[in-house]
Amino acid sequence: MPLSLPERPIILTGDRPTGPLHLGHYVGSLRNRVALQSTHQQFLLLADAQALTDHMHDPAKVSRSILEIATDYLAVGIDPDSTTICLQSHLPALADLTLLYANVVTVARLERNPTIKDEIQARGFGRDIPAGFLCYPVAQAADITAFKATIVPVGEDQAPLIEQTNEIVRRINRQAGADVLPEAQALIPSVGRLPGIDGKAKMSKSQGNTIPLSATEDQIRDAVRRMFTDPLHIRAADPGRIEGNVVFTYLDAFDDDHAVVADLKDRYVSGGLGDSVVKKRLEDVLQAVVAPIRARRAALAHDPGHILEVIRRGTERARAITDTTQRDVRRALGLFTLH
Ligand code: TRP
Repeated sequence: MPLSLPERPIILTGDRPTGPLHLGHYVGSLRNRVALQSTHQQFLLLADAQALTDHMHDPAKVSRSILEIATDYLAVGIDPDSTTICLQSHLPALADLTLLYANVVTVARLERNPTIKDEIQARGFGRDIPAGFLCYPVAQAADITAFKATIVPVGEDQAPLIEQTNEIVRRINRQAGADVLPEAQALIPSVGRLPGIDGKAKMSKSQGNTIPLSATEDQIRDAVRRMFTDPLHIRAADPGRIEGNVVFTYLDAFDDDHAVVADLKDRYVSGGLGDSVVKKRLEDVLQAVVAPIRARRAALAHDPGHILEVIRRGTERARAITDTTQRDVRRALGLFTLH
């Protein structure tokens, strides 16, 4: 069983279940996770508690998204026998470690965290920042350390959270006088963040600029048709621009035939190639990426009990590991314990 091989580095990644996963998640993380599960000991956290830090007004959405996202995981090829899929809110050690770590972090430090600063701005909290939200970096440090993960694949925007985790790790280890927790390293994907189909940097379902992994053939065709290209490329004969042209950005991310893409770019830049030709290529490529995912999703939909069972089993496995870390940390710090 691959999980028991101790020499495999431990990886933790996770997602906030606040909506269906889309193609941006696929290129940015899901694809890598499928590859990493054969070389690493991988844990995948359904971060429902963290999702509530900015979705307390809509817990039903979080609940719904848990099964939806777990289905996406299996549909893209995450193998629950290699990757442990687990539910954050059902791992009590995480909450305990969060409370403990909160005592070695100042409010000022949390307010200085660049990720948090940006997110507070983006969410328009103003002065009404939920305390749970401000503290989620502490909870994320609990997630990472509870699994003793040394590698954490996250987007570039999350790198400051790993830095803050390591500060906590050093504080705890110093106080314990032993290396009870390992430091972690962020693994930033080599491909940049995928833009929305409208060309905006931020993909969000509410803006309608994403292509969900559950998209139908028609939805994919329609999304590609609406995709932002070069607004100055009006006639096919005109020379066009590649930079900021979403169709080419997506081709770079999804088309494995780099020679074809290079040729299309050449012809587009010199003039004489219409948007419709490039879009047709992209549509074919995306249909081929999503078709097998859709087929697996449809098969999984017949057996929702199976998904629940995968989460249940994974959470049980994760509970044993995180409980052990909780005990190790409490012991190392000399905290009172009844067991
Ligand atoms: N913050 C991550 C996100 O927004 C989700 C997450 C929660 C996570 N806990 C984690 C990621 C631990 C990596 C490790 O998607």
